[in-house]
Amino acid sequence: MNSLGQQQKYAPLSIALHWITVIMMLAIYATIELHEIIPRENPLRGAMEDWHIFLGLCMLLLGAYRLSVNLRLQPPGILPRPPQWQMRLTSLMKIYLYILMITMPIVGWIFVSAEGEAVKLFFIPMPGIATVSESLAGIAEEAHEIFGVSAYLFIAVHALAALHHHYLVKDDTLKRMLPDFISRS
Ligand code: HEM
Ligand code: HEM
Repeated sequence: MNSLGQQQKYAPLSIALHWITVIMMLAIYATIELHEIIPRENPLRGAMEDWHIFLGLCMLLLGAYRLSVNLRLQPPGILPRPPQWQMRLTSLMKIYLYILMITMPIVGWIFVSAEGEAVKLFFIPMPGIATVSESLAGIAEEAHEIFGVSAYLFIAVHALAALHHHYLVKDDTLKRMLPDFISRS
């Protein structure tokens, strides 16, 4: 609450972009996990990779747009205010999540380009962003995998921290990021 007794919240655009990101990230991870388990001879396997790439490229656009929006808007304060060390940790986590949203798609694009394959937004071929090179493809693949798998942990910590603040600390960290129709009910 501010001095006028009003709840301080993220702007509606920031809230919408945040939850669209969550849904897209779920889909990006679900498609690649399904790709891993579907047998090679099944055409759905290739379709899952196409969807992964399509959603990953959309994530790049969304992440860059979200960054530009949120750099212009001041995040609302948390009440009661958490200790300074927690605020610093939260800022580092936010930076990490932006790096994830923007760097992962670029590394994936470098990987596919270095393998000599065209990245397609379904039927529309996108330009390659790296020269064809087996060693570069290997490095990019490794980086994409390590960063992608470690992100499971960071996203889980981020989500659990929000729930911890809501249910145990009982501050307004999560309410600030919820749409009005949920936070009022
Ligand atoms: C935020 C966006 C993205 C995330 C979080 C993400 C995450 C992942 C993860 C976790 C894997 C599985 C790694 C493994 O266990 O081997 C993977 C695989 C893959 N990703 Fe992405 N990715 C993203 C965007 C992209 C984009 C934009 C492209 C291409 C332009 C791409 C291309 C690929 C390919 C081709 C694989 C399969 C690699 C293999 O078969 O070894 N990814 N991605
Ligand atoms: C169910 C999962 C998630 C929950 C419950 C959640 C919750 C929250 C909450 C409560 C905040 C406000 C924190 C604060 O201001 O101190 C926040 C901010 C943020 N979250 Fe999440 N989040 C989730 C998933 C994600 C995912 C998957 C991403 C991106 C990969 C993400 C990226 C961010 C970013 C960048 C911020 C900083 C505010 C902004 O720039 O919009 N979150 N999240």
